[in-house]
Parts: sequence; C-alpha cells; structure tokens
Amino acid sequence: MDNIRRKTVKAILAEGQEGAGQLVDVKGWVRTRRGNKHVQFVALNDGSTINNLQIVFDLSKFTEDELKPITTGSSIHVQGELVASQGAGQSVEVQARELEVYGTAPGDYPLQKKGHTLEFLREKAHLRPRTNTFGAVLRIRHALAYAIHKFFNDKGFYYFHTPLITASDAEGAGAQFQVTTLPLEELPRTEDGKVDYSEDFFGKLACLTVSGQLEGELGATALGLIYTFGPTFRAENSNTPRHLSEFWMIEPEMAFYEIADNMDLAEEFIKYCINYALEHCADDIQFLNDHFDKELISRLKFVVENDFVRLPYTEGIEILEKSGKKFEFPVFWGVDLASEHERYLVEEHFKKPVILTDYPKEIKAFYMKLNDDGKTVRAMDVLFPKIGEIIGGSQREENYDKLKGRIEELGLSGMDWYLDTRKYGTVPHSGFGLGFERLVLFVTGMQNIRDVIPFPRYPKNCEY
Ligand code: 4AD
Ligand code: MG
Repeated sequence: MDNIRRKTVKAILAEGQEGAGQLVDVKGWVRTRRGNKHVQFVALNDGSTINNLQIVFDLSKFTEDELKPITTGSSIHVQGELVASQGAGQSVEVQARELEVYGTAPGDYPLQKKGHTLEFLREKAHLRPRTNTFGAVLRIRHALAYAIHKFFNDKGFYYFHTPLITASDAEGAGAQFQVTTLPLEELPRTEDGKVDYSEDFFGKLACLTVSGQLEGELGATALGLIYTFGPTFRAENSNTPRHLSEFWMIEPEMAFYEIADNMDLAEEFIKYCINYALEHCADDIQFLNDHFDKELISRLKFVVENDFVRLPYTEGIEILEKSGKKFEFPVFWGVDLASEHERYLVEEHFKKPVILTDYPKEIKAFYMKLNDDGKTVRAMDVLFPKIGEIIGGSQREENYDKLKGRIEELGLSGMDWYLDTRKYGTVPHSGFGLGFERLVLFVTGMQNIRDVIPFPRYPKNCEY
C-alpha cells in the first residue's frame, strides 16, 4: 500500500468528479458485491454517509481467490484511482489497485440482504448500526444533539449538569429505580422492621433521576438561563412505542420567564432542531422518506412553517366532547389525556402541533404555578402529530407559601433545599422538558422509540 491519506466515503463523494484522477485510500465495510468474470463491483460504506462508494475490481488485475473474502459484512482497505463512473447511480467510483482485507464475514452474518424487518433488527441491536436505516437514524440523532447544544449556547444558556443519582422525586409519579448496595437477601432493618437505609451507600434511600428539573431550577435561579441534557430513568411499566425506561431529556429552565415566554421558546427551539436536521441530514432524511414514510419530509416542513395552536385544556376537552368520536378512554374535565385524545386534537381537529395549557392541578406535578381560578396550573404540553406529547413544561410556583402548602398537601418530604429558592430572592421562572427520543422519532419518521436509540431499555429487556 502506498502512503496516501485515507478519505471518508462522504468526503470522496462530496468532491465528486472534481476529484477524478487522484489516487484515493478508503476503508470500510462491504455492503454488496456483484459482477461477472471480468469485473466485480463492491459497494463500500464506512458510516460517514448513507451513500456507498463503488469500488471496481478488474479481474485482469485481481484473481478470484483474492476477491473471495469480499463478502457482505467484511471489512476492507482499498487504494485506487478515482474515476468518473459510467454506470448510473454514482458519479465517481474507485478503480482498485491495492486490496487489504481486514476481516472476513462468514456466511452466517445476519445482515445479508436489505429488507430485514425492524423487529428482526431489534433482536440484532449489536449489529444494526451497520444497516442503512440505523446509520441514517444515528447520524440524525447526532445532528439533533449537536443542534440542541448550539441552539442554547447561541442564546446564552449554560449547560448545567444535574445529578443522575438523587434522593428527590421530581415528578412524584413513583416511577423511580432504586440505587442501593444493601444486600438484598439480608436487608438491615430498623427496630420497627423497616429497611434501614442509614446503612446504605448514601446513608439514605437513593434513586436514579426521573428529571433534572428541580436541580435545574437551582441553576436557573443563579445563572439565569440553563439547560440540562442527560439520561433520565423511569420504571413505569409502559410497553408502548413511545416509552423507554432510559431516555434522554433536555430541560431548559429560565429565570424571569412566564408561561408565554416558555411557549415561545419551546416552539422556536423545536423548529430550530427540525430545520437543522432538514438542512444537515438531507440524504439520511430522504432515505427514510423513500423507504419508510413517504410523508416524512412534507410533515417536517409543515411543522416548521406553521404556528403551533395554543389552547387551554378546558377548551381541548370541549372539542373532544363535541367531536362525536368513540374514544377507547373516556373524556371528561379532569382526565389525564390519553394519546388518542392528544392525537385527535393534533391530527384530525387542528392538523397542526398544539400547545395545550392550564391543566387541572390534580393531574400535574406539585411545582407548577397555580392559576387564579385555584383549579388549574400553568402547565404546557406540546403535542405533535404521530407522537402525542413531545414536550412537557410549566411556569413554576414561585410563591413560598403556596408551594410549601402544596408540598405538605401531597406529603412530600426533604424539600427544604428546593423551597429555599422561593425563600431567598424568589423570581418568576419557567421551563420544559423535551424527550430527546421523541424528537428523533418525529424527525426520522420511525414508528417505534426502540428504533431511535442504540441500546433501548424497556421492561424485561436490558441487553448489552
Ligand atoms: O412531561 P415530563 O414527565 O416532564 C418532566 O419531566 C418535567 N420535569 C420537564 C420540565 O418541565 N423540566 O417529561 C418530559 C418529556 C415528555 O414530554 C416526553 O417527551 C418525554 O419527556 N418522556 C419520555 N420519553 C421517552 N420515554 C418515557 N418513558 C418518557 N417519559 C417522558
Ligand atoms: Mg408530561
């Protein structure tokens, strides 16, 4: 092999015919090989792009034996001349001069041909990143993560790191995973027979976080504008295409923001992310559009080009009641909306994303600001086509007495540190949480949230 600097497939294809004539060095995995006795064509992919680079092996220069190890899934290193391609489907190809085989892939390689079902690929999640579909999804996932940091950084937000192990339950939904080093077979007990957590690692009951919000509020009431972006864990037994037990959440928290500012930010933020993906992941989105969801691109464009509807919960309930539709779950004022209700409002009634506000306080978390009616809180859920709830947020209760009252009403303990933000220099503030995988789900048009994270965690599944 000559001493030539390696190029990625993406870089070579981007240069196109302008690069013709040069000697290139490429490395990657073989997607397919076809041809005849005179010439063999290999589609090479290195993960840098959805597109393959065609490598041409002339059988006057290579023996059949030399090419034998080049099967689907094998990994190779090639040097050759980049030439304009005569075939349809690519503008350039590499005329191979040198070949090095890094690794063969025996015939039991599971990803032989295209057209595997997503269910099959979920069983092979350790190899599925090598498929076109998951390559596309994972590159889009990366781009969205980058866009999120860029959006907030450009707006003067600080990335604030909240703990993953915590002793507080932000959402109060009782869906926490416990973290312990106590011997489960022989738990230490207190005199009254309860588990003695003073002997546990942290000296108290500790859990994985369900949300970084409460600690995020400590950041926002000091730095002004913060956001978190990290994993969260929920032990709800929800076997749905929209729930994971481990998912990533982005939680901005803003001092001096009221609910309307919060909604403006959420709408701008989510449109920015979608636009970023449309601009920077065009090939991958086009692939998913062609293979899975013919309306994907038009749906993404529609969302970024239209204003979201803003609607109080009470009016939403009225629309659902008047719809004449037979829902599986009943509709009445006070009900926690089911996905079918949310999707009716978005997909059938308004045909636009909807920000639903002012929910009954009973179905929302303790920290939300109480409205003057004494019945509803300043909550906002952003509801999306195909997804349902993609963002949940609120203005926070900044009044010390009201918040303390609510905490006592609900019997929560250990919240003095949180109440201190209201005791000392309290300010109106707001924030929201975006489920990262739900955003990736929307932008990729995938149907199941388990297909937009490399290693999904859900009830009865913890592979790898
Ligand atoms: O509505 P949630 O529970 O809100 C909070 O956790 C607040 N602390 C956010 C805040 O105000 N800072 O969750 C926020 C979002 C949901 O809208 C949804 O997109 C996503 O997180 N989410 C999940 N995503 C995947 N799997 C699950 N089990 C999820 N639960 C919530
Ligand atoms: Mg919610």
